[in-house]
Amino acid sequence: MNDSAAATAASCDAAGDLAGRHVVLGLTGGIACYKAAELTRELAKAGATVQVVMTEAAEQFITAVTMQALSNRPVLTSQWDAREPNNMAHINLTRVADAVLVAPASADFIAKLAQGRADELLSLACLARPIERCALLVAPAMNREMWAHPATRRNVAQIAADGAVVLGPAAGDQACGEVGDGRMLEAHELRDELIAFFQPNVLAGRRVLVTAGPTYEPIDPVRGITNLSSGKMGFAIARAAAEAGAEVTLVAGPVALATPRGVRRVDVHTARQMHDAVLPLAPRHDVFVATAAVADWRPAQAAERKLKKADGHATPTIAMAENPDILADVARLPGAPYCVGFAAESHDLAKHAREKRERKGVPLIVGNIGPSTFGRDDNALLLVDAVGEREMPRGPKLALARALVREIAQRLPVKDPR
Ligand code: C5P
Repeated sequence: MNDSAAATAASCDAAGDLAGRHVVLGLTGGIACYKAAELTRELAKAGATVQVVMTEAAEQFITAVTMQALSNRPVLTSQWDAREPNNMAHINLTRVADAVLVAPASADFIAKLAQGRADELLSLACLARPIERCALLVAPAMNREMWAHPATRRNVAQIAADGAVVLGPAAGDQACGEVGDGRMLEAHELRDELIAFFQPNVLAGRRVLVTAGPTYEPIDPVRGITNLSSGKMGFAIARAAAEAGAEVTLVAGPVALATPRGVRRVDVHTARQMHDAVLPLAPRHDVFVATAAVADWRPAQAAERKLKKADGHATPTIAMAENPDILADVARLPGAPYCVGFAAESHDLAKHAREKRERKGVPLIVGNIGPSTFGRDDNALLLVDAVGEREMPRGPKLALARALVREIAQRLPVKDPR
């Protein structure tokens, strides 16, 4: 998937994720101000209200008119703005905000934050914010040499130590023509970082391994056996686990989905490749969620050359061999992670899910109806564990994934602090 397709797909599923959140969006001087326009729209589409504050330098790059139109609120640019009844915009701003997001944050502005300087409205508001209630997120944007300079390294470390969350920067082409670290994250990435920031950290300190998507079992170099799994549920679970603070590894079959931010991805094709990738990783994880629709069988011998249709030749018969059961093998490991299996059924969901839980030797099976979930953005789940069953009614896969992550977190043994 290219960047814009990923962004489009990502923008569809964020609706409502920031509902009820009020964000102060601070712009400082830098060419990345052009991305702040899109960011404002993304935050608003996700349900947030956005109060824009711009420094004098930011106004050289984008106008307050543009930002007012997109945020639907007058933009604040001066601490002397007399529109505030008490004339204290720098105080009022953060008393009603859930977070201040400075994007772009210039090297100069980060230096100011590091020193606690407050000579214009945005830095004043950052310094005057109630630190325990209103988070400060900072998205640096600058030339790579400025980013690498020891002074900037020092300042970034200082603001992080003071509690700021530093988002990015990314590496790549820079407006100055150079290539390197210092690009501001894209608007949809910043939106997703903010959404993740507001999720409860129920998996902090945990490692989660997820399989997702179909497998592809080759018949010959141009043909193979696969299935209709889109990978969306598994990718949503990987994203939800990362949002909940876990370190996440995603082993994915062939799918055209963007990797969720902060998730380490390993791409495989066949069931045996998935097995070989997962088994050595599993013991280092606290949780294993097997959402992949793994092929039960593969052609016993993939032909080296394309099978040709020729007059007089019989239709080929393909001998099949059984694939390893990844979930069952992980569940049998000494010191196995907490294992969660999926059951995609067409009927008798609860019965099949209960049987599968016993057969695979896992504590939790999540049932869903295959034909009504494959490829879709929504799903309905049935959780089956030793205690009983629990339905999760139809909803967006990401919402269900977040709810499932909370259910898993509740079932984990308390982590040994050693
Ligand atoms: O055996 P069945 O395919 O019905 O079980 C589904 C569950 O087992 C899913 O969690 C799936 O990811 C996992 N599985 C696996 N390896 C296989 C087959 C299924 O990990 N070979």
